[in-house]
Amino acid sequence: MRQVLIIVAVAVTAVTGVVLLFTHVQVRTESDVLARDLEQRTRILAESLQESVEPAYIVQSQSALQRIVERFANRQPLVGVAVVDRAGTVVAASEHVSEAGVVGVVPTVSALQGESGGSFLRTAEATMYVYAVPLTDETGEVTAAMVVVQDASYIDERAYSTWWNNIARLLAYVLLFGAAVALLVRWVVLRPLMALAATVKSARTGRGGLKALEPLKQNLFFMPLAREISEMTKSLGQARHAASEEARLRLQKIDTPWTAERLKEFIRTYLKGRPIYVVSNREPYAHTRRGNEILWSVPASGMVTALEPVMAAAGGMWIAHGGGDADREVTDESGKVAVPPDDPKYTLKRIWLEPEEIKGHYDGFSNEALWPLCHTAHTRPIFRNEDWAMYKRVNGKFAEQILSELKDVQRPIILIQDYHFALLPQMLKDARPDAQIGIFWHIPWPSPEAFSICPWRKELLEGMLGADIVGFHTQQYCNNFLDTVGKEIESLIDFEQFAVTRDDHVSYIKPFPISIAFTNGAERDEADKPDKKVLSVLGIKTERFGLGVDRMDYTKGILERFKAIEFLLEKHTKYREKFTFLQIAPPSREGVEKYREYGAAVKQEADRINKRFGKNGWRPIVLETRHYTHSELEPLYRLADVCVVTSLHDGMNLVAKEFVAARDDESGVLVLSQFTGAARTLKGALLVNPYSAEETAEAVHKALSMSPTEQYRRMRAMRNTIKDYNVYRWSAELIKAVASIA
Ligand code: F6P
Repeated sequence: MRQVLIIVAVAVTAVTGVVLLFTHVQVRTESDVLARDLEQRTRILAESLQESVEPAYIVQSQSALQRIVERFANRQPLVGVAVVDRAGTVVAASEHVSEAGVVGVVPTVSALQGESGGSFLRTAEATMYVYAVPLTDETGEVTAAMVVVQDASYIDERAYSTWWNNIARLLAYVLLFGAAVALLVRWVVLRPLMALAATVKSARTGRGGLKALEPLKQNLFFMPLAREISEMTKSLGQARHAASEEARLRLQKIDTPWTAERLKEFIRTYLKGRPIYVVSNREPYAHTRRGNEILWSVPASGMVTALEPVMAAAGGMWIAHGGGDADREVTDESGKVAVPPDDPKYTLKRIWLEPEEIKGHYDGFSNEALWPLCHTAHTRPIFRNEDWAMYKRVNGKFAEQILSELKDVQRPIILIQDYHFALLPQMLKDARPDAQIGIFWHIPWPSPEAFSICPWRKELLEGMLGADIVGFHTQQYCNNFLDTVGKEIESLIDFEQFAVTRDDHVSYIKPFPISIAFTNGAERDEADKPDKKVLSVLGIKTERFGLGVDRMDYTKGILERFKAIEFLLEKHTKYREKFTFLQIAPPSREGVEKYREYGAAVKQEADRINKRFGKNGWRPIVLETRHYTHSELEPLYRLADVCVVTSLHDGMNLVAKEFVAARDDESGVLVLSQFTGAARTLKGALLVNPYSAEETAEAVHKALSMSPTEQYRRMRAMRNTIKDYNVYRWSAELIKAVASIA
């Protein structure tokens, strides 16, 4: 609709411009013709009158003179005639001729000097045309001037009426023309274009046919394009069929790379149409209102980064808290919306939470108690009774909604994500013993001693053990979990199988190191190198640059990283004005005081270091606190000399893997905290203890001085690791583990 309005507005503006220009020219031409005609008539009249007035003036017959001039009163458009002597006195004048209108005006003055002539005079009341001729005596000397005054207002009136007529006509044109253009554009251009777009989309997604193209094949304008698209769609269909056939054949061989196609094929053959239900607190797409528009975005979340491609490949339903301010506006009455919004592949069911539920469940128990409890980052957990009550309430609310979705589903497969839903597995298992349930814990699991400070540790463990599979990123977290269960609750533990049996129910504890959707597709060529302009717009002008990308979270070790940069500049002064560190840190969990304080501290620290070393417009640290989309991050990953990940403790850390995946030039260095899950497998990284600024600084220095050959060797090894175990394989293994439980 907006496009149609723009086209109509442009067309109407053009027509209006043309009409106004033509009217202007028409009015000027008409006015000139009328003025010339009036001048000519007045001159002829004045010359003929001159013959009768001159004798009367010479014989000084006042009454004869007055009679003559009176004869010309009230003869439209003639206003009248007057005689003015050399002293400037009006000797005789018709009734409507005023002294001011004839004495001292240019034509009269010229006539008294022997020159005939006229000019237009504008007064507040009217426009006059005044023409004067000299009156001479017998000797030929000028004795007076005879002035003829014509009313010229009708010339202006004609101009006004031409303007108004044309403007009225213009309005009628604009209405008719605008409506005609709108209809034409809509029916002749937009509708066929929409049909073409729909066909291209169905070709891309492999859903829908070529029906929409049929009418266009007869359309004069779009016929060639429609034929081309029809051919392209057929070729794509064939390619897709071949890819799926190949994926089916590859299923037999576990060591060939996993792709979206292979996962889809795996799910088709393995699950035989059984749907998958994913449950998480964070939704994969959020809708927000900006003015009259509703926009959608993908939240900054490693969990979403990992699971979105899986759901896109597998389909099914994702159940999550609807947190966007326009989320309700796009869902149906049961909270459902098809996503991705631009190319729907699965259903997102949103659960609505009250503000006090969010405060207690998300801000409170999840992020002020469990998050610091599980991350050994020296931030003390806060356990509040009211948060625990809300945590139980929200887990119950999700359980209720999920169970109502599963009413008619036999043996549903449910994949619960993260520490927000520790109680959910048991709630679901009690109501649906036939459901196959997995819970994946995206954060670390601490030692039994660390976990033992939680007042509700038994309830949490019992809740989690409602699942058939309890998954963690690393074997170490599995070991910690099993030790915690052994310490806290009564159960039978099988250390060989890594299984816990309670009340005849067995839960298997397994590591699934999460990854990203890296398949090492088409390699880019050299010319495809990102433009360095993305750096200069951020004020980065140095040859070398390092990158950090994290949510603003105290577990990410951003302050420790800045300390390391400070140490690097102190010790290796050659990097001053030659190296810049770009830190991208979008805000996170701002309802929690610790996070707000941390955000402020990070900004302060960046300012302090910049003040200390900044020189000639160079700032050593560029801090960006807005959310960057994946496609905005990609060129930064590809341009960075070094990517620095210094989490104090991190379940996996997918930023490290995304950096590696982006480096198809097989250069660049990853400096990685030894306390991340990723450090277990990314052997090509320079591992550091983030608590030591000196050690991290030295690693950054080593990265910046590393030879291209060594960079290549390390990067290649890491890329092979991620390619071998990408997120498609992660989810296939998780799904297989959950769905194969007897
Ligand atoms: O790392 C744990 C985790 O829940 C991830 O799964 C997720 O990417 C991240 O924290 C973001 O958390 P939130 O949903 O609170 O923004």
